[in-house]
Amino acid sequence: MCGIFAYLNYCVSRTRKEIFETLVKGLQRLEYRGYDSAGIAVDGDKNTTTDGINNNIIVLIKKNGKVKALDEELYKKDCMDLEVELDTHFGMAHTRWATHGEPSALNSHPHRSDKNNEFVVIHNGIITNYKELKKYLNSKGYEFESETDTEVIPKLIKYVYDNREREDLSFSTLVERVIQQLEGAFALMFKSSHFPREAVATRRGSPLLIGVRSKYELSAEHIPIQYNTGDIMPGSPEACHNRPDIANAVNSAEDGKAVEYYFASDASAIIEHTNKVIYLEDDDIAAVVGGKLSLHRLNRLAGEVPVRAIQTLQMELQEIMKGNFEAFMQKEIFEQPESVFNTMRGRICFDTNKVILGGLKDHLKEIKRCRRLIMIGCGTSFHAAVATRQALEELTELPVMVELASDFLDRNTPVFRDDVCFYISQSGETADTLMALRYCKDRGALTVGVTNTVGSSISRDTDCGVHINAGPEIGVASTKAYTSQFVALIMFGLMMSEDRISLQTRRLEIINGLRILPELIKKVLTLDKNIKSIADELYEQRSLLVMGRGFNYATCLEGALKIKEIPYMHSEGILAGELKHGPLALIDKHMPVIMIIMRDACYTKCQNALQQVTARSGRPIILCCQDDPEMSRNAYKTIELPQTVDCLQGILSVIPLQLLSFHLAVLRGYDVDCPRSLAKSVTVE
Ligand code: F6R
Repeated sequence: MCGIFAYLNYCVSRTRKEIFETLVKGLQRLEYRGYDSAGIAVDGDKNTTTDGINNNIIVLIKKNGKVKALDEELYKKDCMDLEVELDTHFGMAHTRWATHGEPSALNSHPHRSDKNNEFVVIHNGIITNYKELKKYLNSKGYEFESETDTEVIPKLIKYVYDNREREDLSFSTLVERVIQQLEGAFALMFKSSHFPREAVATRRGSPLLIGVRSKYELSAEHIPIQYNTGDIMPGSPEACHNRPDIANAVNSAEDGKAVEYYFASDASAIIEHTNKVIYLEDDDIAAVVGGKLSLHRLNRLAGEVPVRAIQTLQMELQEIMKGNFEAFMQKEIFEQPESVFNTMRGRICFDTNKVILGGLKDHLKEIKRCRRLIMIGCGTSFHAAVATRQALEELTELPVMVELASDFLDRNTPVFRDDVCFYISQSGETADTLMALRYCKDRGALTVGVTNTVGSSISRDTDCGVHINAGPEIGVASTKAYTSQFVALIMFGLMMSEDRISLQTRRLEIINGLRILPELIKKVLTLDKNIKSIADELYEQRSLLVMGRGFNYATCLEGALKIKEIPYMHSEGILAGELKHGPLALIDKHMPVIMIIMRDACYTKCQNALQQVTARSGRPIILCCQDDPEMSRNAYKTIELPQTVDCLQGILSVIPLQLLSFHLAVLRGYDVDCPRSLAKSVTVE
């Protein structure tokens, strides 16, 4: 949902070409967040100014389409000397997922205050009160050139700057005054010709982190936060000089020590430069002035920790590279034996059958006393809740509600202090899920995050949680995160049932199933060729139904979602029990149907559905257990899977559908990792 990347080099000589390359590489890493258009803001050469004097002129380069198009455009600007060495420079870049205004160069970021580009801004999120602000600014004579909500921000900062009277306002103070007027969600970066070589960043509701690279040791583990006391203008050079701890925390710029800062929407754009990062919190304002980073915010909130930790990223660059695979989605499907193993690693002791999720153990008593569990998520993450609901009901002996975050909020669902609410989210930034989290927090429920992104808003804002450890998921279609969420939720159920004597046999069966799960996933992945040949037959179809029930219903929903979002085929996940209540009317010899029929408690009922389908000349492709002659007899084709414990079978049965979606998309000629109109992290409502 838009990617922000910015780079500031202080006392580190870089050619403009190197700066362009850094900015473009950063954007490419974030492209999965949006790829409608892209743009950058950098300093121009002296001779690009009209008067030949002002060397603070900011150049904006924007292009409709993917980052590649922007990259090509950069080198067409012959007015900019690519070989010029810039000792200190601040450049910023953006890749857009259009929300307000169609994808176009004009609507792409950076947006500017005026024709001289005095203030330029990149933004991720949505400003909900932009219409009121625009009206006000229009009345003051500001003219808008784009249809975006973002453009009010550079106009507003110029308005504050132009009306500062005799106040000597620092860049970060201007930003602070601007964000006080904004409603909605944002991560923002500002650049200004009035404050050359300075950067200001802030966020509320959308993620932003800062990477720091220096050949000198960072001398502190934390950066203190300044609060407005009125004595010193926060973020001003004075503020830094008066607080030696700030200067020391990042670097001593007075000594001319070199430092580089990277600002990004997520860590994947930073990891190749540095593993030292600071995650900004809502309403933090970070400013780099004279090479020093300072953080400030308006008022200290009760209980707030007045420092931001400099954290060390555990991610490896290799994890975000495609390697020999055609697409990230394909790579991530094939990573599932390891990602699922990593979700369990160090948490299940197969000798003692103990399961310990460190992030939950201190809250276990409270969870056991609760009235009900509410599992909340969107899209694939919601499906992980559907997939594990029955097992959680069985293992926790508690009522389990599964909720789509948007619908949960639309209904103003009653939530009580003795509810425990789970937020399942790969990115940890999904706006609907985050809002549901705030809604439940306000009502006093215990909140539990199940995320794949360390430092994400959901992982920080929940009372406790589980990190699923699937590794970075770059493909827009979620695959390995789903199976890891599935495993993490099952592990939660196992942890809850440890002292229930009546459940020990069942626990043991599931734990044994988990033990061999990575091996079984490997076996399923060997079916890839088989599945490709099924895709060869299906790829010209308009529609594809996926049918099943019980533990495999979630697989139908998830498989249908994958088939919609990547090959753009109409697909529906149908609960087989509902077949005769309507969907049966769709069945004839032309309608492709995939049926999931595993040897579990629903086997006989699924056979009934199968008969109803074949009686109407349907030609089902059946996902079934190995060696099931009954299925082979009735199917048009079978995909035979190893059998595992019923409540884990969905992990195996979803993989052929992930692969099918991938192959269908390739055969239909679509870009697997950049499905149209979608973005990886949906940070808007
Ligand atoms: C589908 C997909 C989406 C996400 C949904 C929630 O492949 O990826 O449906 O699952 O947007 O995202 P997270 O899990 O980041 O909250």
